[in-house]
Amino acid sequence: MPFTIGPYRFDNRLALAPMAGVTDRPFRQLCRRLGAGMTVSEMIGSQPQLRDSRKTRLRMDHDGEPGPIIVQIAGGIPEQLAATAVFNVEHGAQIIDINMGCPAKKVCRVDAGSALLRDPDLVEAILRAVKAAVEVPVTLKIRTGWSRDQRNALEIARIAEDCGIAALTIHGRTREDKFLGDAEYETIRRVKAGVAIPVIANGDIDSAKKAKMVMDFTAADAIMVGRIAQQRPWIFGHIEHYFRTGIEPDEPSDELKQNWLIGHLKNLYAFYGEHQGVRIARKHINWQLGQNDNYGIVKPALMQAQTAAEQLQTISAYFDNPHFESFDRAS
Ligand SMILES: Cc1cc2nc3c(=O)[nH]c(=O)nc-3n(C[C@H](O)[C@H](O)[C@H](O)COP(=O)(O)O)c2cc1C
Repeated sequence: MPFTIGPYRFDNRLALAPMAGVTDRPFRQLCRRLGAGMTVSEMIGSQPQLRDSRKTRLRMDHDGEPGPIIVQIAGGIPEQLAATAVFNVEHGAQIIDINMGCPAKKVCRVDAGSALLRDPDLVEAILRAVKAAVEVPVTLKIRTGWSRDQRNALEIARIAEDCGIAALTIHGRTREDKFLGDAEYETIRRVKAGVAIPVIANGDIDSAKKAKMVMDFTAADAIMVGRIAQQRPWIFGHIEHYFRTGIEPDEPSDELKQNWLIGHLKNLYAFYGEHQGVRIARKHINWQLGQNDNYGIVKPALMQAQTAAEQLQTISAYFDNPHFESFDRAS
Protein backbone atom coordinates (compact mmCIF):
# COMPACT_ATOMS: atom_id res chain seq x y z
CA MET A 1 0.00 0.00 0.00
CA PRO A 2 1.43 3.42 -0.86
CA PHE A 3 2.15 5.83 1.96
CA THR A 4 -0.02 8.94 1.80
CA ILE A 5 -0.54 12.09 3.83
CA GLY A 6 -3.70 13.93 2.84
CA PRO A 7 -3.72 14.10 -0.95
CA TYR A 8 0.02 13.39 -1.22
CA ARG A 9 1.32 9.99 -2.17
CA PHE A 10 4.97 9.27 -1.42
CA ASP A 11 7.29 7.15 -3.56
CA ASN A 12 8.20 4.98 -0.60
CA ARG A 13 8.03 4.78 3.21
CA LEU A 14 11.38 6.38 3.94
CA ALA A 15 11.68 9.87 5.36
CA LEU A 16 14.70 12.04 6.07
CA ALA A 17 14.38 13.49 9.59
CA PRO A 18 14.35 17.26 9.96
CA MET A 19 17.69 18.30 11.46
CA ALA A 20 18.42 21.96 12.07
CA GLY A 21 21.80 22.85 10.62
CA VAL A 22 21.85 19.73 8.45
CA THR A 23 18.76 19.23 6.32
CA ASP A 24 18.99 22.37 4.23
CA ARG A 25 17.70 22.31 0.68
CA PRO A 26 20.92 20.90 -0.87
CA PHE A 27 21.00 18.03 1.63
CA ARG A 28 17.30 17.28 1.18
CA GLN A 29 17.81 17.21 -2.59
CA LEU A 30 20.74 14.82 -2.18
CA CYS A 31 18.71 12.46 0.02
CA ARG A 32 15.70 12.56 -2.32
CA ARG A 33 18.00 11.71 -5.19
CA LEU A 34 19.43 8.81 -3.21
CA GLY A 35 16.10 7.28 -2.26
CA ALA A 36 14.34 9.25 0.49
CA GLY A 37 10.64 9.47 -0.35
CA MET A 38 9.98 12.32 2.05
CA THR A 39 12.03 15.20 3.39
CA VAL A 40 11.16 17.92 5.89
CA SER A 41 12.69 21.39 6.13
CA GLU A 42 14.79 22.54 9.08
CA MET A 43 12.44 23.99 11.65
CA ILE A 44 11.28 27.57 11.24
CA GLY A 45 10.72 29.50 14.45
CA SER A 46 7.34 31.14 14.93
CA GLN A 47 8.47 34.50 16.25
CA PRO A 48 7.50 37.11 13.63
CA GLN A 49 10.79 38.99 14.03
CA LEU A 50 12.68 35.94 12.74
CA ARG A 51 10.90 36.00 9.40
CA ASP A 52 13.10 38.53 7.70
CA SER A 53 16.42 36.96 8.57
CA ARG A 54 18.64 35.46 5.87
CA LYS A 55 18.61 32.18 7.81
CA THR A 56 14.81 31.95 7.71
CA ARG A 57 14.73 32.98 4.07
CA LEU A 58 17.14 30.18 3.18
CA ARG A 59 15.16 27.72 5.28
CA MET A 60 12.05 28.70 3.32
CA ASP A 61 13.74 28.27 -0.05
CA HIS A 62 12.34 25.19 -1.81
CA ASP A 63 13.23 26.16 -5.34
CA GLY A 64 13.52 23.09 -7.55
CA GLU A 65 12.74 20.65 -4.75
CA PRO A 66 10.50 17.72 -5.55
CA GLY A 67 7.24 17.94 -3.62
CA PRO A 68 5.41 17.62 -1.43
CA ILE A 69 7.13 20.50 0.34
CA ILE A 70 6.96 19.82 4.08
CA VAL A 71 7.85 22.74 6.32
CA GLN A 72 8.44 22.22 10.01
CA ILE A 73 7.48 25.01 12.40
CA ALA A 74 8.39 25.39 16.07
CA GLY A 75 7.13 27.50 18.91
CA GLY A 76 4.94 27.47 21.97
CA ILE A 77 2.26 30.09 21.32
CA PRO A 78 -0.77 28.82 19.37
CA GLU A 79 -1.51 32.10 17.53
CA GLN A 80 2.12 32.55 16.51
CA LEU A 81 2.36 29.00 15.24
CA ALA A 82 -0.88 29.44 13.31
CA ALA A 83 0.43 32.64 11.71
CA THR A 84 3.73 30.94 10.86
CA ALA A 85 1.85 28.07 9.25
CA VAL A 86 -0.18 30.50 7.12
CA PHE A 87 2.97 32.42 6.14
CA ASN A 88 4.71 29.23 5.05
CA VAL A 89 1.74 27.92 3.11
CA GLU A 90 1.67 31.27 1.29
CA HIS A 91 5.33 30.61 0.47
CA GLY A 92 4.88 27.12 -0.90
CA ALA A 93 4.49 24.69 2.03
CA GLN A 94 2.21 21.81 1.05
CA ILE A 95 2.31 20.11 4.45
CA ILE A 96 2.98 21.80 7.80
CA ASP A 97 4.81 19.74 10.42
CA ILE A 98 4.83 20.90 14.05
CA ASN A 99 7.97 20.24 16.06
CA MET A 100 7.31 18.79 19.50
CA GLY A 101 10.36 16.57 19.34
CA CYS A 102 13.31 18.89 19.83
CA PRO A 103 14.95 18.36 23.25
CA ALA A 104 16.47 21.83 23.56
CA LYS A 105 15.15 23.52 26.68
CA LYS A 106 14.12 26.51 24.73
CA VAL A 107 13.60 26.61 21.01
CA CYS A 108 13.66 30.18 19.82
CA ARG A 109 13.65 31.39 23.43
CA VAL A 110 10.19 30.04 24.29
CA ASP A 111 9.18 26.66 25.67
CA ALA A 112 8.71 24.67 22.52
CA GLY A 113 9.72 21.38 20.93
CA SER A 114 9.36 18.40 23.26
CA ALA A 115 8.94 20.67 26.30
CA LEU A 116 5.32 20.99 25.16
CA LEU A 117 4.63 17.31 25.81
CA ARG A 118 4.35 18.16 29.50
CA ASP A 119 1.28 20.25 28.79
CA PRO A 120 -1.35 18.31 26.78
CA ASP A 121 -3.84 21.22 26.95
CA LEU A 122 -1.32 23.50 25.27
CA VAL A 123 -0.55 20.79 22.72
CA GLU A 124 -4.24 20.64 21.88
CA ALA A 125 -4.53 24.43 21.65
CA ILE A 126 -1.57 24.55 19.26
CA LEU A 127 -2.85 21.75 17.08
CA ARG A 128 -6.34 23.24 16.85
CA ALA A 129 -5.01 26.72 16.08
CA VAL A 130 -2.70 25.52 13.31
CA LYS A 131 -5.30 23.15 11.85
CA ALA A 132 -7.89 25.93 11.73
CA ALA A 133 -5.46 28.34 10.08
CA VAL A 134 -4.43 26.33 7.02
CA GLU A 135 -6.09 24.08 4.47
CA VAL A 136 -3.03 21.88 3.91
CA PRO A 137 -2.38 18.70 5.95
CA VAL A 138 -0.80 19.33 9.35
CA THR A 139 1.49 16.68 10.86
CA LEU A 140 3.16 16.44 14.25
CA LYS A 141 6.56 15.18 15.41
CA ILE A 142 6.95 14.15 19.04
CA ARG A 143 9.10 12.13 21.40
CA THR A 144 7.65 9.30 23.50
CA GLY A 145 7.02 11.71 26.36
CA TRP A 146 8.47 14.22 28.73
CA SER A 147 10.41 11.75 30.86
CA ARG A 148 10.69 8.00 31.32
CA ASP A 149 7.97 8.00 33.96
CA GLN A 150 5.80 10.28 31.85
CA ARG A 151 5.69 8.51 28.50
CA ASN A 152 2.47 10.14 27.35
CA ALA A 153 2.90 9.65 23.60
CA LEU A 154 -0.38 7.75 23.32
CA GLU A 155 -2.32 10.51 25.06
CA ILE A 156 -0.73 13.10 22.76
CA ALA A 157 -1.38 10.89 19.71
CA ARG A 158 -5.07 10.67 20.58
CA ILE A 159 -5.26 14.43 20.98
CA ALA A 160 -3.55 14.77 17.61
CA GLU A 161 -5.97 12.40 15.98
CA ASP A 162 -8.91 14.26 17.50
CA CYS A 163 -7.57 17.56 16.20
CA GLY A 164 -7.34 16.23 12.64
CA ILE A 165 -3.57 15.82 12.47
CA ALA A 166 -2.73 13.92 9.29
CA ALA A 167 0.31 11.92 10.47
CA LEU A 168 2.45 11.54 13.55
CA THR A 169 6.21 10.96 13.77
CA ILE A 170 7.57 9.53 17.02
CA HIS A 171 11.21 9.53 18.03
CA GLY A 172 11.64 6.61 20.45
CA ARG A 173 13.16 8.65 23.25
CA THR A 174 11.76 10.96 25.90
CA ARG A 175 12.72 14.58 26.21
CA GLU A 176 14.75 13.72 29.31
CA ASP A 177 16.76 11.14 27.34
CA LYS A 178 18.06 13.81 24.98
CA PHE A 179 20.10 11.58 22.65
CA LEU A 180 21.37 9.25 25.38
CA GLY A 181 20.72 5.52 25.56
CA ASP A 182 18.95 3.52 22.90
CA ALA A 183 15.69 4.47 21.25
CA GLU A 184 12.83 2.17 22.25
CA TYR A 185 10.11 1.09 19.86
CA GLU A 186 7.55 -0.38 22.26
CA THR A 187 5.88 3.00 22.82
CA ILE A 188 5.76 3.60 19.07
CA ARG A 189 4.16 0.15 18.64
CA ARG A 190 1.52 0.99 21.26
CA VAL A 191 0.75 4.35 19.68
CA LYS A 192 0.42 2.81 16.23
CA ALA A 193 -2.01 0.25 17.63
CA GLY A 194 -3.96 2.97 19.45
CA VAL A 195 -4.65 5.49 16.68
CA ALA A 196 -5.82 5.31 13.08
CA ILE A 197 -3.66 8.12 11.66
CA PRO A 198 -0.37 7.21 9.91
CA VAL A 199 2.58 6.80 12.29
CA ILE A 200 6.21 7.30 11.30
CA ALA A 201 8.79 5.57 13.51
CA ASN A 202 12.08 7.32 14.23
CA GLY A 203 15.22 6.85 16.30
CA ASP A 204 18.54 5.03 15.86
CA ILE A 205 17.70 3.46 12.51
CA ASP A 206 21.17 3.03 11.06
CA SER A 207 20.94 0.11 8.64
CA ALA A 208 18.54 -1.56 6.25
CA LYS A 209 18.06 -4.48 8.66
CA LYS A 210 17.29 -2.16 11.56
CA ALA A 211 14.82 -0.30 9.36
CA LYS A 212 13.00 -3.55 8.63
CA MET A 213 13.06 -4.57 12.28
CA VAL A 214 11.56 -1.24 13.38
CA MET A 215 8.95 -1.31 10.63
CA ASP A 216 7.92 -4.89 11.46
CA PHE A 217 7.96 -4.42 15.22
CA THR A 218 6.03 -1.15 15.35
CA ALA A 219 3.82 -1.77 12.28
CA ALA A 220 4.54 1.89 11.49
CA ASP A 221 3.43 3.26 8.15
CA ALA A 222 6.87 4.71 7.43
CA ILE A 223 10.25 5.19 9.05
CA MET A 224 12.33 8.31 9.46
CA VAL A 225 16.14 8.37 9.38
CA GLY A 226 18.27 11.19 10.74
CA ARG A 227 21.87 11.15 11.89
CA ILE A 228 23.14 8.17 9.89
CA ALA A 229 22.10 9.93 6.68
CA GLN A 230 24.70 12.60 7.41
CA GLN A 231 27.40 9.95 6.94
CA ARG A 232 25.57 7.69 4.50
CA PRO A 233 23.00 9.66 2.51
CA TRP A 234 22.68 6.62 0.22
CA ILE A 235 21.13 4.65 3.12
CA PHE A 236 17.65 5.37 1.78
CA GLY A 237 18.34 3.55 -1.48
CA HIS A 238 19.87 0.70 0.49
CA ILE A 239 16.84 0.36 2.74
CA GLU A 240 14.50 0.49 -0.23
CA HIS A 241 16.50 -2.22 -2.01
CA TYR A 242 16.49 -4.39 1.11
CA PHE A 243 12.74 -3.97 1.57
CA ARG A 244 12.20 -5.00 -2.06
CA THR A 245 14.66 -7.87 -2.32
CA GLY A 246 15.69 -8.95 1.18
CA ILE A 247 19.32 -8.41 0.13
CA GLU A 248 21.54 -5.66 1.54
CA PRO A 249 23.36 -3.95 -1.33
CA ASP A 250 27.14 -3.55 -1.32
CA GLU A 251 28.72 -0.30 -0.22
CA PRO A 252 28.53 2.19 -3.14
CA SER A 253 31.71 2.50 -5.21
CA ASP A 254 34.17 5.31 -4.50
CA GLU A 255 33.32 6.72 -7.90
CA LEU A 256 29.65 7.05 -6.97
CA LYS A 257 30.49 8.52 -3.56
CA GLN A 258 32.76 11.06 -5.22
CA ASN A 259 30.11 12.06 -7.75
CA TRP A 260 27.45 12.43 -5.08
CA LEU A 261 29.70 14.44 -2.78
CA ILE A 262 30.91 16.77 -5.53
CA GLY A 263 27.35 17.30 -6.77
CA HIS A 264 26.27 18.08 -3.20
CA LEU A 265 29.12 20.56 -2.67
CA LYS A 266 28.35 22.38 -5.92
CA ASN A 267 24.74 22.65 -4.82
CA LEU A 268 25.88 24.07 -1.45
CA TYR A 269 28.02 26.73 -3.16
CA ALA A 270 25.11 27.69 -5.41
CA PHE A 271 22.64 27.82 -2.52
CA TYR A 272 24.70 29.70 0.09
CA GLY A 273 27.16 31.53 -2.15
CA GLU A 274 30.80 30.43 -2.34
CA HIS A 275 32.10 31.88 0.93
CA GLN A 276 29.44 30.39 3.23
CA GLY A 277 29.00 27.32 1.01
CA VAL A 278 32.67 26.32 1.40
CA ARG A 279 32.35 26.56 5.18
CA ILE A 280 29.09 24.62 5.37
CA ALA A 281 30.54 22.02 3.01
CA ARG A 282 33.26 21.22 5.57
CA LYS A 283 30.88 19.51 7.97
CA HIS A 284 29.31 17.44 5.19
CA ILE A 285 32.77 16.41 3.99
CA ASN A 286 33.68 15.39 7.54
CA TRP A 287 30.48 13.40 7.94
CA GLN A 288 30.69 11.66 4.58
CA LEU A 289 34.43 10.92 4.50
CA GLY A 290 35.18 10.87 8.23
CA GLN A 291 34.71 7.09 8.51
CA ASN A 292 37.47 6.37 5.98
CA ASP A 293 40.75 5.16 7.51
CA ASN A 294 42.87 7.48 5.43
CA TYR A 295 40.72 10.59 5.90
CA GLY A 296 43.02 12.02 8.59
CA ILE A 297 45.71 12.59 5.96
CA VAL A 298 43.55 14.79 3.78
CA LYS A 299 41.39 16.41 6.45
CA PRO A 300 43.67 19.41 7.21
CA ALA A 301 43.85 20.36 3.53
CA LEU A 302 40.09 20.00 3.15
CA MET A 303 39.29 22.03 6.23
CA GLN A 304 41.69 24.78 5.23
CA ALA A 305 40.49 25.10 1.64
CA GLN A 306 39.12 28.63 1.22
CA THR A 307 37.57 28.44 -2.22
CA ALA A 308 35.19 26.10 -3.96
CA ALA A 309 37.81 25.25 -6.57
CA GLU A 310 40.36 24.34 -3.90
CA GLN A 311 37.87 22.21 -1.97
CA LEU A 312 36.74 20.37 -5.10
CA GLN A 313 40.30 19.78 -6.34
CA THR A 314 41.31 18.41 -2.98
CA ILE A 315 38.33 16.03 -2.93
CA SER A 316 39.17 14.85 -6.46
CA ALA A 317 42.83 14.35 -5.55
CA TYR A 318 41.75 12.31 -2.52
CA PHE A 319 39.48 10.04 -4.52
CA ASP A 320 42.02 9.71 -7.35
CA ASN A 321 44.62 8.49 -4.91
CA PRO A 322 42.83 6.91 -1.94
CA HIS A 323 45.79 4.76 -0.90
CA PHE A 324 48.39 7.52 -0.70
CA GLU A 325 51.03 7.55 1.96
CA SER A 326 51.36 11.30 1.96
CA PHE A 327 49.15 13.97 0.55
CA ASP A 328 50.09 17.21 -1.11
CA ARG A 329 47.46 19.85 -0.84
CA ALA A 330 45.95 20.64 -4.26
CA SER A 331 47.08 23.99 -5.52
C1 LIG B 1 21.67 18.06 14.55
C2 LIG B 1 20.23 17.68 14.78
C3 LIG B 1 19.23 18.61 14.57
C4 LIG B 1 17.89 18.27 14.77
N1 LIG B 1 16.92 19.19 14.50
C5 LIG B 1 15.62 18.84 14.59
C6 LIG B 1 14.59 19.75 14.19
O1 LIG B 1 14.84 20.87 13.74
N2 LIG B 1 13.30 19.32 14.30
C7 LIG B 1 12.98 18.08 14.79
O2 LIG B 1 11.80 17.74 14.87
N3 LIG B 1 13.95 17.21 15.16
C8 LIG B 1 15.23 17.55 15.05
N4 LIG B 1 16.20 16.63 15.35
C9 LIG B 1 15.81 15.26 15.73
C10 LIG B 1 15.75 14.35 14.49
O3 LIG B 1 14.73 14.77 13.61
C11 LIG B 1 15.49 12.88 14.90
O4 LIG B 1 14.26 12.82 15.55
C12 LIG B 1 16.59 12.33 15.81
O5 LIG B 1 17.87 12.67 15.32
C13 LIG B 1 16.47 10.81 15.96
O6 LIG B 1 16.62 10.16 14.73
P1 LIG B 1 18.03 9.44 14.33
O7 LIG B 1 18.39 8.50 15.45
O8 LIG B 1 17.74 8.71 13.05
O9 LIG B 1 19.05 10.53 14.18
C14 LIG B 1 17.54 16.96 15.20
C15 LIG B 1 18.57 16.04 15.41
C16 LIG B 1 19.89 16.36 15.20
C17 LIG B 1 20.96 15.33 15.42
